[in-house]
Amino acid sequence: MMKKTILVTGGCGFIGVNFVRMLLVDRPDLHVLNLDKLTYAGNLQSLADVEDHPNYTFIRGDICDSDLIDSLFASHDIQAVVHFAAESHVDRSITGPDAFVRTNVFGTFTLLQAAKKYWLDQGHGDGASRFLHVSTDEVYGSLGETGYFTEETPYDPRSPYSASKASSDHFVRSYFHTYGLPILITNCSNNYGPYQFPEKLIPLVLNNGLAGKELPVYGDGGNVRDWLYVLDHCEAILRVLEKGQVSESYNIGGHNEKTNLEVVGLLCDMLDEKVGPLPDGAPRRSLITFVRDRLGHDRRYAIDAGKIERELGWTPRFVFKQGIEKTVDWYLENRAWCTSVMDGSYRSYYETMYGSK
Ligand code: NAD
Ligand code: DAU
Repeated sequence: MMKKTILVTGGCGFIGVNFVRMLLVDRPDLHVLNLDKLTYAGNLQSLADVEDHPNYTFIRGDICDSDLIDSLFASHDIQAVVHFAAESHVDRSITGPDAFVRTNVFGTFTLLQAAKKYWLDQGHGDGASRFLHVSTDEVYGSLGETGYFTEETPYDPRSPYSASKASSDHFVRSYFHTYGLPILITNCSNNYGPYQFPEKLIPLVLNNGLAGKELPVYGDGGNVRDWLYVLDHCEAILRVLEKGQVSESYNIGGHNEKTNLEVVGLLCDMLDEKVGPLPDGAPRRSLITFVRDRLGHDRRYAIDAGKIERELGWTPRFVFKQGIEKTVDWYLENRAWCTSVMDGSYRSYYETMYGSK
């Protein structure tokens, strides 16, 4: 019997890579079709070891390309979509929002149209088909000193990134209400772990810290994020895909609020402990440099994950200390991955492996 196909978009990005790996191990009954444009954030090398896995196919392509998406639905028995592909970095959305509107809004719309066409209009859905849209807690805006984001918190996005994600969430929900498309949405807090692009706070601090470069902390460093280990996020997504109630949103978070300064300080101490202090004997905390704040910088995010915990029985498996230790070790053991990302050589991997295909 032909295996059911799960279309994973953005499977070469940070969370996507971890999710694809998890599926290939935990769900041998599924065929994983990874569609990724390989923007600067997509790294095919991260999945080099599973390239020949019998349950895995990689397609380089753009989620905005409706002909391509249609052809994928027509040629595979796609019964689930897990949609990660996005422009994901807030700072980039401030300097260049266009790509965020295009990929996050129009790209999501293009996928919704294809799923509707094949599952509903042409009747290829098997009754258990699911479109899971991976979104962010940033759609809820910024919290003060207290309180948590719940699924009922009104949307109040503040950056072009979060506005584009909020817009895509609304489109996804509208396809349920208008057409009955079986959708699910997850809104997760900040992830950390292996394969994260070093423009994001944690890998940036690790890379710069190892190289003895400045560690830029925006504003007063008092902004709070709720950190979750990436594999906990991946497990939560799979739980929602398999057990979630169609049309519902689920918040995902780590019960793990930290100021940026706390996180940066901890990473400095861990690096000092694992590889020794800087060559001149100074601790890495001496590299911390307060820089101009991010425009519109959200002050605090904190997730109430009560719904997914109660209804689907998910809880994070990794406490921060354990997850951050694994993360630091991964970056120390995978210097070649970091170097290829920093010097840009990861970008030639596709051409080397696939040529003009
Ligand atoms: P990422 O930037 O690391 O990866 C994005 C991936 O999408 C890359 O592989 C890129 O090549 C691909 N992509 C971009 N535009 C594309 C397009 N037009 N067509 C096809 N592929 C395209 O992102 P990430 O951190 O892995 O985040 C994945 C998803 O999870 C995003 O939707 C993001 O909003 C959401 N999210 C991220 C976090 C986090 O902390 N990283 C938290 C909550 C939600
Ligand atoms: O909350 C979920 C979101 O988390 C995801 O939707 C986004 O895709 C993801 O990028 C992340 O957004 P943040 O903006 O919170 O992550 P970032 O790593 O860019 O920044 C984390 C915090 O650290 C934030 O308060 C800004 C600050 N920061 C960041 C960088 C890159 C610094 O102080 N210095 C830095 O150099």
